[in-house]
Amino acid sequence: MNLLSMRNVSYRYPINNWTSLKQVTLNIEAGVFYAVIGANGAGKTTLCSVFRGFIPHFYNGELEGEVQLYGKNLLQYELGDIASRIGYLFQNPFTQISGAKETVFEEIAYGLENLGMEPTEIRKKVEDVIALLKLEKIAESNPTELSGGQKQRVAFASVIVMDPEVIIIDEPTSQLDPQGTEEIFRIIDLMKQRGKTIILVEHKMEWIAEYADQIIVMEDGQVVMQGDTQSILSNPEVMEHGGSLPQYAEVGLRLLGEGGTNQVPITRKQAEHVFSQLKKGGTE
Ligand SMILES: Nc1ncnc2c1ncn2[C@@H]1O[C@H](COP(=O)(O)OP(=O)(O)O)[C@@H](O)[C@H]1O
Ligand SMILES: [Mg+2]
Repeated sequence: MNLLSMRNVSYRYPINNWTSLKQVTLNIEAGVFYAVIGANGAGKTTLCSVFRGFIPHFYNGELEGEVQLYGKNLLQYELGDIASRIGYLFQNPFTQISGAKETVFEEIAYGLENLGMEPTEIRKKVEDVIALLKLEKIAESNPTELSGGQKQRVAFASVIVMDPEVIIIDEPTSQLDPQGTEEIFRIIDLMKQRGKTIILVEHKMEWIAEYADQIIVMEDGQVVMQGDTQSILSNPEVMEHGGSLPQYAEVGLRLLGEGGTNQVPITRKQAEHVFSQLKKGGTE
């Protein structure tokens, strides 16, 4: 069964006279890591907001079609009930950090406290997440005094500690350096290994190529392509839809005819393989 799905979903924000989602039909299966790509304004964040129930709970406007969680209409769930199943990491970690707590430890515990969980149980869960995300060194720091990358990891920890089945992550690395980006992908990969379903909006194609299972390409409010990572990220049509490909694939596509290879690499490892084959071919 699909964990989450949309059937013919269209949505228009109340202030706009254009629709931001157009007849979107999508099935999200449990345990799969989906990356959502496409140009700015394509509707990626809006798609995430619908899955998370922010639309129509916080935004009015016209929502058509049906969104389901475990085969039941999402509108029939309480927002808190959705929150315990679907975690959401915002693009800007400032939005996520509560500002109400003085240490990282307390910040991560905040959501569990709101659920009224036993303090000893909270302590155990928070300690586990701190160890998992390697946050020991900053556990007693003030969340507002952290670097951008640290804040993002604390925000991620606050989501993970709630143990949601689905984790939606909207451009988590856009303000991070390569090391911060690597940390975030390491955490996403850990979550995947734990069987979580992941929906990630991301522009860094090299990272997606390494880790994602499925790619969803959006353009102008529609899902225009969907498929496994290898086939989508080696397909030049993605660029016609305003998306981009990993640099390895772009080079690989240019070499396709000339070099006599029929493989388009999407990861560094694949590229090394393909290019070493080419070199051999050239000297023989
Ligand atoms: N809060 C909002 N209020 C009004 N219009 C919005 C809002 N968020 C997004 N939009 C509009 O919806 C369309 C899709 O935007 P968005 O989902 O943010 O795209 P993406 O995340 O792919 O950049 C755009 O035309 C954008 O202007
Ligand atoms: Mg967005």
